[in-house]
Amino acid sequence: MILKKLLSAVCLLLCIQFVKSQGNTHSTSAQQEGIVGKVDSLLAIMTLAEKVGQMNQYNGFWDVTGPAPAEGDAAKKYDHLRNGLVGSMLNVRGTEAVRKVQKIAVEETRLGIPLIIGFDVIHGYKTISPIPLAEAASWDLEAIRKSAGVAAAEAAASGINWTFAPMVDISRDARWGRIMEGAGEDPYLGSKIAIARVKGFQGDNLAAVNTVAACSKHFAGYGFSESGKDYNTVDIGLARLYNTVFPPFEATIDAGVKTFMNAFNVLNGVPATGNAFLQRTVLKGDWGFKGFVVSDWGSINEMITHGYARDGKDAAMLAANAGSDMDMESYHYVNQLEALVKEGKVDESLIDDAVSRILTVKYELGLMDDPYSYCNPEREKQVVGSKENNDLVLDMARKSIVLLKNEGNLLPLSKSGLNIAVIGALSADKDSPLGSWRLAADANTAISVLEGLQGYGGNKLHYEKGPDLVVGEPSFILETKINTTDRSGFDEAVAGAKDKDVVVMVLGEHGFQSGEGRSRASLDLPGMQQELLEAVYAVNKNVVLVLMNGRPLTINWADEHVPAIVEAWQLGTQSGKAIAEVLYGDYNPSGKLPMTFPRSVGQIPIYYNHENTGRPTIPAPDLVFWSHYMDESNDPLYEFGYGLSYSRFQYSNLRLSDNTLVDDGQITATVTLSNTGAYEGTEIVQLYLRDLVASRSRPVKELKGFEKVTLKPGESRDVAFSIDRSLLQFYSQNNTWEAEPGDFRVFVGGSSKTVLDTGFTYKK
Ligand code: NOJ
Repeated sequence: MILKKLLSAVCLLLCIQFVKSQGNTHSTSAQQEGIVGKVDSLLAIMTLAEKVGQMNQYNGFWDVTGPAPAEGDAAKKYDHLRNGLVGSMLNVRGTEAVRKVQKIAVEETRLGIPLIIGFDVIHGYKTISPIPLAEAASWDLEAIRKSAGVAAAEAAASGINWTFAPMVDISRDARWGRIMEGAGEDPYLGSKIAIARVKGFQGDNLAAVNTVAACSKHFAGYGFSESGKDYNTVDIGLARLYNTVFPPFEATIDAGVKTFMNAFNVLNGVPATGNAFLQRTVLKGDWGFKGFVVSDWGSINEMITHGYARDGKDAAMLAANAGSDMDMESYHYVNQLEALVKEGKVDESLIDDAVSRILTVKYELGLMDDPYSYCNPEREKQVVGSKENNDLVLDMARKSIVLLKNEGNLLPLSKSGLNIAVIGALSADKDSPLGSWRLAADANTAISVLEGLQGYGGNKLHYEKGPDLVVGEPSFILETKINTTDRSGFDEAVAGAKDKDVVVMVLGEHGFQSGEGRSRASLDLPGMQQELLEAVYAVNKNVVLVLMNGRPLTINWADEHVPAIVEAWQLGTQSGKAIAEVLYGDYNPSGKLPMTFPRSVGQIPIYYNHENTGRPTIPAPDLVFWSHYMDESNDPLYEFGYGLSYSRFQYSNLRLSDNTLVDDGQITATVTLSNTGAYEGTEIVQLYLRDLVASRSRPVKELKGFEKVTLKPGESRDVAFSIDRSLLQFYSQNNTWEAEPGDFRVFVGGSSKTVLDTGFTYKK
């Protein structure tokens, strides 16, 4: 008996040694196969508690990106870490801090399994790119891929190996604060951008020291929260789920995304975190996802508040059985899962599956080979904030700007001889352009619009701040308070605008007015900005309005009166430089809106790819029986895909290679694009389709292709789109993806208000 015990102890030791040493030899080609074997061997020697530990993720000790639970004291976390009860940490950053926690996991625990270090690298780490919604306005997949690459390189150089991005939630509700984190309202554009982001983060080799694992979030439906209020209920049908919400998620699996995050919301009655249909049937079943799913912050615990779980133990059981592999900051897995397995309420095979998925990603990241490979302080110094990274985010910033109006060609501005007033609290703000979700960035490090303009010496600038936009120092975790009472600077700003050749007004939202927990019921310019705009316009009509905002705003008055409007979002570190280049014409704007701008909040949700009602148009003058508002137009202020250029583009001669598309064949739609303006410029040519009669009512238009084309003045070019069955497929009444035979319309133009159309028939 003793001999037997001794033998098995020796065996276990050898096994552990083997597991600890084996990583060093794996090469990329043999990697996948090798990893399966290594994961299995490791799993075989893990105790149930150690397995559960891998499924436990703790927040670090300073940044907080959610409400910290009472149990979250550092001492307990360190204890768990030493006992091998932690598989991952988030919000630990910097090579030194990461090495410190990694050292405990690797050198003090029985098996020495390294931690995977997660962080919200949403649009840059230190060198900040435009907010994701702004990047989406570029429709430039290569630039977006590179921007994610910059974020990955800086994060990986700072000890991080996993970003909680991209957020691929489609949303049609600008009230929702998290709209800034995604790619807008369209599943086709959203899917393309999601792929670009995953590729940018993960690169070709996950084990390389400039890449990180990506995370598609929030699975699923989070962007459809009722009334645009964060964390709210989501109740949508299967067709909406499959046709609109799922496509970007599924696209990221094809792009090789390693992880998913579930969501805070209840979807059709069941919290996403405890939703087996989402996580087991669709994600890991139908889509064959091989990576792991992390819960959102405390979302396992929140199932109790939702009234879906009785207590922490029940919540842990429901989440684990439903396919949530890792618990972020709920503490229920680490406290309850072992007992649940012993009581037969969670099958150990599910634990093994979850742990295998987590360990696989750790192997793929190269962490098992060298847990400190991301912890090189020299590299951290070299990579973070490099000139190359700044050049790349500047390029991204230029491409994200959308010109909304330019009456009388007020823009571009002449580079000399002008007397310009620069007005508004956001003009000299060096923090707001960094936007929300830029946790590692140093505050006040963006180039402001004022600084950008000062970079051009030829004109006289007169700056007036006007009233403060916010009260106090807003931060990522605190409510942003808007100044509605202190009028200091108002009159000076109006006086400063008088007698100037041009007034550049920088208005919009503070950088912390969008993002998580920052829904708005009004989309007007906050604070005293509207009043200031009108007062300035009353003394000087030559206003160029530069909008700085994290979501579409209702700027009807500005659209009606102000001659030039530039949508500059929150463009990151290089913000002011990119804006000045556009105002002075060194960069000709080419962005197009990835989201509809409503005229009023009452129109929300307003989106271009809606289905038809039975009564879409007025049947006779003054007749009331049609789908409309009595007090508002049905039209948006600016439609999806809209954006101007200093050039003029003309579309002509839309033709199809055939007017029948047969089963798995393809036809080509070609259009001629001409630059009839005076500047070289770039146009985003958009292709939309409509399925005229189908087993489900289909949208009046759906984006199915786009191409960015640069033309010199007077130049024309044919732009061709290939159309095949894959573009016609949808989640049909048979509850399956299929293309149904019948007639289709093809639309082409420079926005979703297309200018040309034709048609074809699809035959099986
Ligand atoms: C909550 C957010 O919903 C999620 O997107 C984020 O990744 C986590 N907190 C971690 O910060």
